[in-house]
Amino acid sequence: MQEYRDIVVIAGIPGVGKTTVVEEAVKKLKTYKIVNFGDVMFEIAKSEGLVKHRDDMRKLSPETQKKIQRHAAKKIAGMAADSNIIVDTHISIKTPKGYLPGLPLWVLEELEPTKIVIIDATAEEIFLRRKRDNTRRRDDESLESIKFHQRYNIYLAASYSMVSGATVSIVYNKEGKILEAVKELTSILEQD
Ligand code: AP5
Repeated sequence: MQEYRDIVVIAGIPGVGKTTVVEEAVKKLKTYKIVNFGDVMFEIAKSEGLVKHRDDMRKLSPETQKKIQRHAAKKIAGMAADSNIIVDTHISIKTPKGYLPGLPLWVLEELEPTKIVIIDATAEEIFLRRKRDNTRRRDDESLESIKFHQRYNIYLAASYSMVSGATVSIVYNKEGKILEAVKELTSILEQD
């Protein structure tokens, strides 16, 4: 008989603060383990000599990214065999060749998520957080382009929900109000 496991996908466009919010929520809940999809992909890409920096992965050819993505999804599904996990990832990745789906069918089939939670904020807040965060090599993006990516992700999340049956929720990570976002996310994670 297959072990019970719960996989929750948490996504949000780069710089929205999803990793910050998720890490705080998990300190309170302790029943979930966080797996960062980007970390797993980066380990694979580095071991194959493809990139030196995680922010270079989205510049690889779409076919290469999809190959690494599929490999990462299998590894993550394996990690979830004996524990509930939160997968910190992206609904879509903005690449030089267009938006790449973060959860195409083969990833959804591996993960079988029960919930998809989008962490969101205003485009202005995201823009400023990216500017302040010098730990990353973020792409320069206009407010209009950030807004488009946010809208696009909502449509894409609806299509992921259609094929996987996962629910979709949105948590707003307002400026300086991380704890409010953590509280809302915690309450979503606690629901059966
Ligand atoms: P990934 O590893 O997911 O990127 P990340 O490290 O999570 O970083 P993000 O850029 O998404 O930032 P964040 O939103 O988590 O913000 P943070 O908490 O740091 O992805 C790396 C790469 O992996 C991708 O580019 C892609 O190539 C690949 N990848 C991943 N998943 C994939 C998939 N499924 N398919 C294909 N490729 C995939 O916060 C940012 C800043 O804001 C911080 O300085 C923080 O202190 C601040 N902040 C946060 N909240 C607040 C607040 N409320 N008020 C004020 N400041 C705040």
